[in-house]
Amino acid sequence: MAIQVVILAAGKGKRMNSPLPKVLHPLAGKPLIEHVVQVASKVSETQPIIVYGYQGQLLKDHLSHLNVRWIEQTEQLGTGHAVQSALPNIHEQDDVVILYADVPLISQHTLNKLITTTPKNTLGMVSAHLDHPHGYGRIKRDHEHKVIAIIEEKDASVEDKQISEINPGIYFVNEKHLKRWLANIDNHNQQNEYYLTDIVSRAKQENIAIHTISPQHVEEILGVNDRIQLARLERFYQQQYAEHLMSQGITIYDPARLDIRGDIKVGVDTTIDINVICEGRVVIGRACMIGPNVILRNSMIGDECQINANSVIDGAEIAAQCVVGPFARIRPGTKLDHHAHVGNFVEIKNSFIGQASKINHLSYIGDSDIGIHVNIGAGTITCNYDGVNKYHTIIGDYVFIGSDTQLVAPVQVGQGATIAAGSTITKNVPEKSLTLTQQLHQRSIENWKRKAKKELVE
Ligand code: UD1
Ligand code: CA
Repeated sequence: MAIQVVILAAGKGKRMNSPLPKVLHPLAGKPLIEHVVQVASKVSETQPIIVYGYQGQLLKDHLSHLNVRWIEQTEQLGTGHAVQSALPNIHEQDDVVILYADVPLISQHTLNKLITTTPKNTLGMVSAHLDHPHGYGRIKRDHEHKVIAIIEEKDASVEDKQISEINPGIYFVNEKHLKRWLANIDNHNQQNEYYLTDIVSRAKQENIAIHTISPQHVEEILGVNDRIQLARLERFYQQQYAEHLMSQGITIYDPARLDIRGDIKVGVDTTIDINVICEGRVVIGRACMIGPNVILRNSMIGDECQINANSVIDGAEIAAQCVVGPFARIRPGTKLDHHAHVGNFVEIKNSFIGQASKINHLSYIGDSDIGIHVNIGAGTITCNYDGVNKYHTIIGDYVFIGSDTQLVAPVQVGQGATIAAGSTITKNVPEKSLTLTQQLHQRSIENWKRKAKKELVE
């Protein structure tokens, strides 16, 4: 029998105070619901069902890359009603895992524990004790410690509110029980909603055992209803991620000041300084040094690279033993071959920089192809844009470009050529030549006196 995961995501999430549906708010750079879909696909081979409603089209558009089945809940009449909407799409006798899209960090480990330890023909659920259970449904037990009901915060008596054991909203149950119990629930409660949580008292009425398990970490089962809870979970997630990296042999100076918003792979003995942000898919080799305030986005960094403070690397490939920054900006489509050096206030876009070439100060290199052992002097600019089109600059091996040179593309500089400082290159430069374009010859006026500053006489 298959396992069918159902993820509830039809609610608006009023407490976020946002026009964006709550489940699209990002945690670690990914919508809340995407975390849940990811874990769902780890515990079941069947496509998960997402029950959607509020701003459904927006949700579908944002999540079109996910392999899921969309089921609409036309009116948001409660979590029980939401599962009911999905029922016709669940195969008879399937085992069903129900998750809430606003509980994003539930782990594969905990779900597997729920699935494997829940005895056949019973109702399995996750439970946890919280110091501050406010807002959650409370798990009510009888004197034999058996679960008998879940009481929502809004329906709870003063006494019920003292209960610290809460319902995270994660259930495991066979379709045939679920169908029968849901057919029997009503909306006679404070919120006039059909509560999914009422399946617990239905199970109890039928004397069907209710099995509870604890999560590995309590943070896994915390829900996101407002932005404070969202920030708390973000910090938990980041701490976990940093610890995972450290356990694999990466030095992180301060795990509280590293943010991974996507997927990262890091080689051993790499050191990550404070305030580093990684976005999208980032691969960092071994024995690299990532300086403070570096932003890496969808990029690959080879082994033994030194990425100095305040550099931004986006959509680039950097080969082994390169030095970048401080204050460098490497933009999409850039490749640095090994041993290349890019220094401060250098911007590079869509360019190839050959082995051991250096662009160390204050330059813009765009749409260029640069050979090996090239030296680009301070303040060199490739003028790649004429206001309408973009053009390429090609620079051969061993070229030396003097400071403050403009290369007006399309243009090629032949191998081994030297360009004098302050040149504006508009035509191709032959190999091994020296090229100068300065209009003014330097002259000096001897014994020339600078104007004296007006003296303040009073
Ligand atoms: C729910 C539980 C509560 C539990 C808490 C855990 C119920 C009745 N209560 O309360 O016991 O402690 O989660 O976080 O289940 N949704 C729909 N359709 C609807 C209503 C909600 O799909 O008609 C979805 C929401 O998008 C959300 C999830 O179900 O992802 C939970 O809904 P929410 O309103 O956040 O429930 P809570 O009040 O947090
Ligand atoms: Ca919730």
